[in-house]
Amino acid sequence: MIIPVFKGLDKAPNNTTVGLGRGASIAVKAAAAGDAISGKAGESLSVWTKGCTVIFVGVGDKEKITHKVARDTGAKCLANLSKDLGSDIVVRFTSGWSSENITAFTEGMILRDYEFDKYQKKDDENNHSGWCLECQAHDRHLQGLADSIEKANLVATGVHLARDLANEPANRLYPDEYGRRALEWAEGKENVEVEVWDYERLQKEGMQGVIAVGKGSIRKPCMVFFRLNPDAQEGKKVPCIVGKGITFDTGGISIKPSQGMWDMKYDMHGSATVFGLFQALWATGYEGRVNGITCMAENMPSAEAYRPGDVIDTYSGKTIEIFSTDAEGRNVLSDGLWKAAELNPSYIVDLATLTGACVVALGHEASGLWSNDDKLRERIHEAGNAVDELAWPMPLLPAFEKEMTSSKFADVRNGGKGRWGGANTAAAFLKQFIQEREDENGEKSEIPWAHLDIAGTAWGVDTNACVAHGGTGVHVRTLHRLITQG
Ligand code: BES
Ligand code: ZN
Ligand code: ZN
Repeated sequence: MIIPVFKGLDKAPNNTTVGLGRGASIAVKAAAAGDAISGKAGESLSVWTKGCTVIFVGVGDKEKITHKVARDTGAKCLANLSKDLGSDIVVRFTSGWSSENITAFTEGMILRDYEFDKYQKKDDENNHSGWCLECQAHDRHLQGLADSIEKANLVATGVHLARDLANEPANRLYPDEYGRRALEWAEGKENVEVEVWDYERLQKEGMQGVIAVGKGSIRKPCMVFFRLNPDAQEGKKVPCIVGKGITFDTGGISIKPSQGMWDMKYDMHGSATVFGLFQALWATGYEGRVNGITCMAENMPSAEAYRPGDVIDTYSGKTIEIFSTDAEGRNVLSDGLWKAAELNPSYIVDLATLTGACVVALGHEASGLWSNDDKLRERIHEAGNAVDELAWPMPLLPAFEKEMTSSKFADVRNGGKGRWGGANTAAAFLKQFIQEREDENGEKSEIPWAHLDIAGTAWGVDTNACVAHGGTGVHVRTLHRLITQG
């Protein structure tokens, strides 16, 4: 039994010992009144009683608690639980807990309850069959909590699916395998459709951006389309979410240094987030229509690989001069974004582990957020803040666009002239592939679009309490909120 307590604890909160035996109650009350736990953040105290280990967990100042503090404390609390204690957890929320913070604490536990151990032998002693979690709180919270925790739990299935995909190594998850998994996921679900465009289809459609990047690998590229509730809201404009899905990024002919290259298996996290988002939307029963597109390719050097100096055609009709084959994400997205506009979306959001420069700018604490639409930018920023997946506004400046359209041989260049502002020039590149459309009055405007550079937030975020290591599943929760409550 876990009892989260606030700073200044001098005696057991009301109801702490309800249901415990007399001896146990005395021990637990004595522990709460003693000096070993005061409720400061990071503290915990376990009291063994027969049949139930009672663990006080310090949350810090009651006045300063935020949903982030609550979620992170829940996550750390789960991470520290020993499986030797059994599998039944009761969390007892006593006085001072709001419904919102109870939900966040519980959500933290659920998000943190994740392992990717499918390629490791399990030892026989470790046959824990998973946690069973019960939350207890004052009656007035209960109905609301039943709904909000159930929802958090369902959205978490999407986060965990995104992590699963991200964590898969590139020898096991390549473009066609991602497509196969998407098709398998859609099987038996009435209100979802998945369509995979294989290499041949890409060639027929002229998706040369995706093809150029993927053709150097024996694992050929593909494009995957997700549709939720395809028959709903006919004629209405609905969101389209686009993901970069480079299942491995060697850099291609502009090959990367070997140090750290193993992390480039995560270069498909944009596509993992799209997949996870559809799972989250489906699981929570969202009834609106939503489209998703993922651009899948493996970026390899080979005799058939594209090269620096190449001029490639894209689906848009614009040509790209390749400066670096390692700036491949933007090439595949050029086709995905142009295609997204054909679905007449209310807005487009793309997610991509696009630039090392974004990690230089923002570290691992926030994704970069660029948009051609102030309202959309604000909504994504707000959604990110609400779920504690920060998306930090970055500038989309005309000067960067000018730089990226200054190729002497093609319409657009895939690298900036120098390395400064590399995340901004990448965003300015993407903007070249956002289509204009005409409204009823014949007025032309660009489709609202936002770009999330998740290079720093998709994996390796030591400060993210909700993840032990590996892929984070970042922005499944942000986009679920944006779409369902935005
Ligand atoms: N996938 C990388 C970006 C990346 C690097 C993500 C490190 C996470 C950590 C991307 O394809 C890339 O290599 N970008 C280049 C662009 C440059 C060649 C213009 C980069 O950031 O160096
Ligand atoms: Zn690259
Ligand atoms: Zn990449």
